[in-house]
Amino acid sequence: MNVDNGYVDVPIEEGTDIKKEILRMKQEKNAVILAHYYQRPEIQDIADFIGDSLALAQIAARSSADIIVMCGVQFMGETAKVLCMDKKVIVPDMSAGCSLADSCPADEFKKFVDAHPGYTVISYVNTTAAVKACTDIVVTSSNARQIVDQLPADEKIIFGPDKNLGNYINMQTGRNMLLWNGACHVHEQFSIEKIIKLKEMHPGAKVLVHPECRQAVQMIADKVGSTKALLDYAVGSDCDTFIVATEHGILHEMVKKCPEKTFIPAPPEDGSCSCNECAYMKLVTLEKLYNSLKYEMPLVHVDADIAREAVKPIKRMLEMSK
Ligand code: 13P
Ligand code: SF4
Repeated sequence: MNVDNGYVDVPIEEGTDIKKEILRMKQEKNAVILAHYYQRPEIQDIADFIGDSLALAQIAARSSADIIVMCGVQFMGETAKVLCMDKKVIVPDMSAGCSLADSCPADEFKKFVDAHPGYTVISYVNTTAAVKACTDIVVTSSNARQIVDQLPADEKIIFGPDKNLGNYINMQTGRNMLLWNGACHVHEQFSIEKIIKLKEMHPGAKVLVHPECRQAVQMIADKVGSTKALLDYAVGSDCDTFIVATEHGILHEMVKKCPEKTFIPAPPEDGSCSCNECAYMKLVTLEKLYNSLKYEMPLVHVDADIAREAVKPIKRMLEMSK
């Protein structure tokens, strides 16, 4: 089967009820469909579980399914695979990369780590398995603060690759972690001026900001947090209007959970588009999900030696976030 483009590119027979077939094959093959909050609405709606990076890793770790279909990006599939080497893990479009993971090539990161002996290495989950293999503890935006707080105050720490999240944790904890200079091209795009204008138009609105955004954007937030933390804040808040500075896909679950509230996507600096989308996350479609389940491809492969090392900091994260 040809998966050169990253997905199974086979035409689906006309008249196929794609959603029904996905559900049928899922049952028949004992597969579980996991989806990140940034996925297309129709993918979130058909998934067994939707969640942030931490929840997806936790669900994969305890799954009894034979096949895990990770509707997300490569690093999420790799994390699931490393935790479940005996299972088939599928990412319906394997070309779904991540600009943040790309900003941290494993060989360069290893050189950086080797140049700083005595440092504990913390890596954000948005990294390749090869980067995780030279890491002591993996974190997500949900648990980074909680995990850093468990380390002795004088511990020397390297934090990579997201400089904005790293800087945020430094500010919150008073630490001076050494930061890798990486970032996400989607979250770096939010315009502080446009958010302030929106705030003037909606004076009572609360500003929700993902910690991958630049510090200036974090500074005008009412809440900084992971996708799940922002969702929970919106659900629990008395406020009825929110300006959301993270990838647009999260609005689907926000509107579902709070149909009476208004969610306004924060705009990027450039262009006429009013929201920020992660093109990688949007690569997964119902058709690709259907074909990936039908043909059980493309499968995530992680080299066994790398997986053996990469699983240690992921398991440490899961332990430390209990
Ligand atoms: P979360 O950890 O909040 O799910 O974020 C993942 C991500 O890719 C953010 O861009
Ligand atoms: Fe990576 Fe940014 Fe897309 Fe998240 S939004 S998957 S960090 S490119």
